[in-house]
Amino acid sequence: MGGNRVKYAAIAALGGYVPPRRVSNDEICRSIDSTDEWIRTRTGIANRHVVDPGVATSDLAVEAGRRALAAWGSDEVDLVVVSTATPDYISPPTAPLVAHRLGLPQVAAFDVSAACSGFVFGLATVAAYVRAGLARRVLFVSAETTSLFTDPRDRDTAPIFGDGAGAVVVVATDDPEAAGVLGDFDLGSDGGWGELVTIPGYGSRDRANGFLGSTSPYIAMRGRDLFGQAVTRLEKSARTVVGAAGLSLDEVDLVVVHQANGRIIDALADELELDPKKFFINIGEKGNTLSASIPLALCDAIKEGVLSPGLRVLITAFGGGTAWGSTVVTWPEKAVS
Ligand code: UT7
Repeated sequence: MGGNRVKYAAIAALGGYVPPRRVSNDEICRSIDSTDEWIRTRTGIANRHVVDPGVATSDLAVEAGRRALAAWGSDEVDLVVVSTATPDYISPPTAPLVAHRLGLPQVAAFDVSAACSGFVFGLATVAAYVRAGLARRVLFVSAETTSLFTDPRDRDTAPIFGDGAGAVVVVATDDPEAAGVLGDFDLGSDGGWGELVTIPGYGSRDRANGFLGSTSPYIAMRGRDLFGQAVTRLEKSARTVVGAAGLSLDEVDLVVVHQANGRIIDALADELELDPKKFFINIGEKGNTLSASIPLALCDAIKEGVLSPGLRVLITAFGGGTAWGSTVVTWPEKAVS
């Protein structure tokens, strides 16, 4: 770490990974009172990928990280950051485990925890490290095993979540006009709504209250309240960051928003008065993968030919905390999945 002070941080490569097991709504409905039709209409989800027994978050992170490094063509990074709400352990953090498995010994490594907004907060963090000269080449991975934190008998959550990981390489550049340069971020939170989505068991609150082992280790969610907040916060954050970048919403080519619910994305398009076709949606096959959802959506958008170099992408997320964040980036040439 350390070295010369540099001014700009740019996305240089991207990689994504979902575990091979694909689970249909019908399979989910074997343990809850629901239907394929309800899940499709209320969430936009048809299938999601989930890990096989024995596979944890760092395993997915390693796969996505390896793909991003391969796309970049090097493994010479000086910092590894992992965003996850579903870590392998409360401690140690997941990033050093991932760095070790990727054959990056002694590299600086730490985790970022910002639930569904973890990709945006993590991107802002690594960009700030690069701009401050604390790192020059960063591997940043968002990885989640939501299926291990979801009660299959809870119909509020069982249909929604999926597993996966997405990774980017962020590098220093002297050129402020270079494609991929990370500029403005809008970041915010309101912990007054922290109870809307939680994993209550096994943290210090649980221990402080003497409940260790008896509180649920699964995601608990007040979906309807979150839904309303999501649309309001995403709209404001998107407008703020686009304005800060000196752009109008019309100048955005593609919106990649956290894939929480297809109807949230439709409502956001409505509020922003933007063509729904500008919103990339892959929730149908991936479900809600928390902080992995945006990099996985970027990967799928490239594979589907929707995202190509030179396009101006608005990235925006909202979720647990509650916390939200947005940024705008011109997609670079080299970033391939
Ligand atoms: O990424 C983390 C952040 N998470 C989010 O942003 C999630 C945001 N929220 C959502 O995506 C939606 O609120 C859900 C998909 C979770 C729920 O959809 P909703 O349209 O808000 O449903 P609801 O909770 O208002 O319930 C509507 C009805 C209720 O029945 P009644 O009272 O109208 O008779 C529920 O009991 O749907 C019923 N219901 C279900 N029915 C079949 C709730 N869950 C299910 C289910 N299957 N799984």
